[in-house]
Amino acid sequence: MKQVDVALGERSYPIHVGAGTLQDASIWRPAIRGRHVLVLSNTVVAPLYLERVLTGLRGLTHASLILEDGEQHKTFDNVSRVLGVLADLGASRDATLIALGGGVIGDLGGFAAACWMRGIDFVQMPTTLLAMVDSSVGGKTGVNLPTGKNLVGAFHQPRAVIIDTTTLASLPNREYLAGLAEVIKYGAIGDANFLDWLQQHADALLARDEVALDEAIAFSCRYKAGVVARDEREQGERALLNFGHTFGHAIETEAGYGQVLHGEAVATGMLLAARLSANLGLAPATDAEQLAALLNQFGLPTRLPAGLDARRLFERMTLDKKSLSGKLRLILWRGAGQAELASGVEDSAILALLQEAVAAAS
Ligand code: NAD
Ligand code: GLY
Repeated sequence: MKQVDVALGERSYPIHVGAGTLQDASIWRPAIRGRHVLVLSNTVVAPLYLERVLTGLRGLTHASLILEDGEQHKTFDNVSRVLGVLADLGASRDATLIALGGGVIGDLGGFAAACWMRGIDFVQMPTTLLAMVDSSVGGKTGVNLPTGKNLVGAFHQPRAVIIDTTTLASLPNREYLAGLAEVIKYGAIGDANFLDWLQQHADALLARDEVALDEAIAFSCRYKAGVVARDEREQGERALLNFGHTFGHAIETEAGYGQVLHGEAVATGMLLAARLSANLGLAPATDAEQLAALLNQFGLPTRLPAGLDARRLFERMTLDKKSLSGKLRLILWRGAGQAELASGVEDSAILALLQEAVAAAS
């Protein structure tokens, strides 16, 4: 069992990583302060893991709400449903919401917790690799609008993050690999040695070896916890966590939601950002190609899906949340382990790269 702490003064919280942490309620019961608990999950995760959590809630007044599965259900309507159940439960200010599931349940549950009585406690129990290494840590919560993803939300930190690595056994392989893309991202932006470690442990990670997986998850959580502690509200450094995401979101949207998973789009996006940086003379081209080799080793896509249009991808990129006053800001690469936020990259350089990538995909 490993513990990583997110240091935010009075709002500091632990991340517990290990096998069997859900079943061992002594690990997470201390995070529950009051008597009322709502467990939020979905139709895929609840049949597998809800019972483990409910067993640990004996003696408390609790309810569960099981939402439909999928990104399309990360909506205001479902936040209203959560708030309705909290009301029926008679949840007071010291109530706790437990989010048991992937990033969709974590983001939505965290947002509902931020809204009920202007903010109650919540505990993240992530069950996808992506949620374990990224979305459950750092307090970004929210829902989608018809006009775009994550457009409404709040910063609301959990009281604890409980990562039970045994839950990954049921995760489909494509979702698992997509989570590994975010793990690779931490090495790419912050630690070249970790990239080497990933290369050496690729076979073990692909086989979901427990020891390698615990180490990769704990490293990722430690890395993200450090960034969040230094820049909770994304005034600077936290933006680097979006390496590959401006390209990635454009790929996800242009390919059609659900065609390309977020982590898959981020993988291709990181490589495009690395190649753009090499074209701009910021990083050695060999580093970008080493990143491509690592992504390939993990079965992640390094090419765009066929049939996309370079100009449309570029236009999507300019809608990114990091843009300020209509100016695109990108995370560029100084080579393995070093990223930086940059504005003022010539549109023509981005377009040329996208045209090349589109041509290579057909
Ligand atoms: P997800 O929650 O949709 O989970 C992916 C799929 O795996 C779903 O079908 C889910 O039901 C299923 N699943 C979950 N756990 C499982 C398990 N143990 N076994 C079998 N199936 C399981 O998607 P995700 O990739 O976990 O998260 C994506 C969401 O996270 C997006 O909405 C994204 O915007 C958000 N996100 C948020 C942050 C943040 O900082 N808050 C960061 C990254 C992503
Ligand atoms: N996933 C990016 C962040 O939490 O800032």
